[in-house]
Amino acid sequence: MGFKHVAIIMDGNGRWAKAQHQQRTFGHLQGSEKVREIAIAANDIGIEVLTLYAFSTENWKRPKEEVDYLMKLPDVFFNKFLKELMAKNIRIQTIGELEAFPDSTRQVLERAIQTTSKNTGMILCFAMNYGGQREIILAAQKYHEAVVNGIINKDLSPEIFEQFLMTKDYHAVDLCIRTSGEQRLSNFLLWQLAYAELIFEALPWPELTGDHFKELVLDATKRDRRFGGL
Ligand code: FPP
Repeated sequence: MGFKHVAIIMDGNGRWAKAQHQQRTFGHLQGSEKVREIAIAANDIGIEVLTLYAFSTENWKRPKEEVDYLMKLPDVFFNKFLKELMAKNIRIQTIGELEAFPDSTRQVLERAIQTTSKNTGMILCFAMNYGGQREIILAAQKYHEAVVNGIINKDLSPEIFEQFLMTKDYHAVDLCIRTSGEQRLSNFLLWQLAYAELIFEALPWPELTGDHFKELVLDATKRDRRFGGL
């Protein structure tokens, strides 16, 4: 299995819930159960990093009630699943500006990161208060600072710039999957997706299964990736 880094835009929780005559928050709860199932499937097939778009810099625009619910979800999720993720040797990490979250949410995430930090298996990375454009701006600012402080010279290359991104320790994204039929990137990992394979899956996130995910990934590994060459 050639793919090291898979990224997912977990879309369709709200529409799925509505179709079940349920609140949007119920869709997010079901979505968090899927995080467990898909993470375990990804770990099974040897993926090194699975990055999930859990909260974007634009998601603050949602009604307060929904934002509040999403802030509480990490606690619900880790209370239910941290033990199992530990047993699977999975490491929790995050990208995004966690400072903006309530203390309680941040502490839950930091505790999960800390508890799993010595694990050596797949990295399950939650993108939280993350936006691709914001990440690139922050990287440009850090690069500028490093030049001004004489830490780095002015010869900028993609490889050097990447060291200032939040994903500096990860392989470039090999495959990005977006569920629920929408065909756009919505400010997710803009730099890292430069040569990624893309899959736009019709099923909403709460209906994706571990087996279907594995099939999507294995099919995509058969594509001919040329990275601009022949
Ligand atoms: C997009 O669906 C989904 C989100 C904005 C939230 C995703 C979060 C989870 C799946 C749970 C994350 C779990 C943890 C542990 C942090 P949408 O609400 O935009 O769906 P819609 O397009 O149908 O309205």
